[in-house]
This record gives sequence, structure tokens and C-alpha cells, in this order.
Amino acid sequence: MGKSKPKAAPLSFEARVGASFITATEAIWDSSIYGRPIAQISTLQLSSEAESDELLQQFRRWRDGGPLFMISCRLSSERLRELMSLKDLGFRFVESVLHPRFDEIALKRFRDERGLEVKVATEADLAIIGDVAQSAFVNERFYKDPRLDKSLSGRRYSKWACSALQHPKQKLVKICENGEFVAFFVYEETGANVYWHLTAVDPRLHGKGYGRRVWEAMLKFHANAGIKQVSTTIAAGNVAVLNLYSSLNAKFNNPSTTLHWMRAES
Ligand SMILES: CC(C)(COP(=O)(O)OP(=O)(O)OC[C@H]1O[C@@H](n2cnc3c(N)ncnc32)[C@H](O)[C@@H]1OP(=O)(O)O)[C@@H](O)C(=O)NCCC(=O)NCCS
Repeated sequence: MGKSKPKAAPLSFEARVGASFITATEAIWDSSIYGRPIAQISTLQLSSEAESDELLQQFRRWRDGGPLFMISCRLSSERLRELMSLKDLGFRFVESVLHPRFDEIALKRFRDERGLEVKVATEADLAIIGDVAQSAFVNERFYKDPRLDKSLSGRRYSKWACSALQHPKQKLVKICENGEFVAFFVYEETGANVYWHLTAVDPRLHGKGYGRRVWEAMLKFHANAGIKQVSTTIAAGNVAVLNLYSSLNAKFNNPSTTLHWMRAES
């Protein structure tokens, strides 16, 4: 039997010049979906122009000299110095995202969640959850960026949702009505806070009032478990979900901006 090929270490880059610093790490899940290395900038802070120029030159040398196919970066929309510098480096605007939140959910009055049941998902649910995640996320950045293969975007969300079943921190639940699947949520609990990573109603049921009822059922589910605050991230271009959060009286934190850089194909 031949020896298996040793796995390459994930790509990463870290540099500091004075008070300016940058960290980029490979998003190995995304690399495996797209079959080419993809990284994300996880921290970026730029101070004076001279420091920033030197730091970004080092970053550019690392990026251009390596095998990366794509780099993404999401920053608070207020960080204009960083966002403009990334644009100078060839990063393109992809989306604005909003961060809705619900505070003190135990005090919330629910109107219409009855008849829906929230249950921990099992292996037997992965077929439908994978299927729904494959087609539901058409407002997300991997789907919207015209330079990326749309079918792989579906695979990305499908794999993410299904893998939440085995994830050490993320949890996967399904929401059913009369035993029939309606929606799924992937969430993560930290103390009395919950963050919703992925949320979707089965596309065959859109526009029938399920979204509102499902979201209320989930808030009640978390309130019953002693959670105080729920937050999440939504694409500003996702009008259906904007109206949904507006009808549920969500509050909003500062928005963020997402940029993608992609290697030009020669
Ligand atoms: C967003 C989503 C949950 C809405 O679910 P839904 O069952 O179709 O929504 P509902 O019929 O309950 O409508 C809920 C609200 O959304 C609004 N809405 C729904 N579809 C809409 C559309 N196509 N355009 C504009 N607003 C829309 C409605 O105005 C409604 O508010 P109202 O009750 O105050 O009138 C659903 O489209 C979905 O799962 N999308 C795919 C995944 C996704 O985007 N997840 C969220 C971000 S990760």
C-alpha cells in the first residue's frame, strides 16, 4: 500500500509594524469545498500611513507569492482606512451585513409560535436539512459573488449545517409542524447569549408566514433555556429577512462590510 500524502499545514500570515497588524488564516472548510486554498483576514488594524504601507507590502508579498485562490475580510463598516487600503490591494466589495439582536427575550410576548415544535436534530434529519441548506442561502456572499461557482456555495452551506451535528460548540435543531419539517437553525450558546449561525425555512414553504412563527418559536425555546440575548448576522440585501427582523422588533448593532480578493486567472 502506498503512503498517504501528508496533509499540508493550513496557510497563515501574521505581521506587525508599530501599531499596525494583520492576521490571515486559511479557511480550511472553504478550501476543501472549492478545491483551492481560501483564507480570511481575521484581524486588521492600520494606524499611520507609513506603517500601513510597510505592513500591507509584506502582506501582498505573502499573498502573491503563495497558492491562494481567494481571501475574504469582514470589518466594521466604520473602519474606512482598512477598507480603503484593502480596495487598493485589489479586494472588491461583496456585501454589507447587519447584526440584529433580541435582548431580554424572556420578557418578549410571543404571538404566533404555537403549533411548532423545536427538536434537537439527529442523523435521520440530515438529508432534508442538507437539501434545504443547499438551496436556501441565495443571499449569502459565496452565492452572490459572480466570480464563484454557485453550486459550490450550496454545498458549502449544506456541509456546514450537517456538520453542526458533530460540532463541539454549534448545535443543530429542526422546527416541525405536525411532525413535518419546516426549518432548521444552527446556533451557538455562550453563557446567557446565543448566536444564530444559519437559519432557514424550507424554500417550498416560503411566503406562508412560517418565518415569523419559526423565529418566535426559536426565541421562546431559548428563553425557556434561560438565554437572555440572541444575535445573528444577515446580508443587507436579503429583503425577506430584513422585513422579518423588522416585524419582530429586532435591535441592530453596527453593520459590517465584506470584501473578497480573488487571484486573476491567467
Ligand atoms: C427569510 C425567511 C426566513 C423568511 O421566511 P418566510 O416563511 O418566507 O417568511 P414569512 O412568510 O413568515 O414572512 C415574514 C416576514 O418577512 C417578509 N417577507 C417574506 N418574504 C419576503 C420577500 N420575498 N420580500 C420581502 N419581504 C418578505 C414579510 O414581509 C413578513 O413580514 P410581515 O409578517 O411583517 O409581513 C426565508 O425566506 C428563508 O428561510 N430564506 C432563506 C435563508 C435565509 O435567508 N435565512 C436568513 C439569513 S441566514
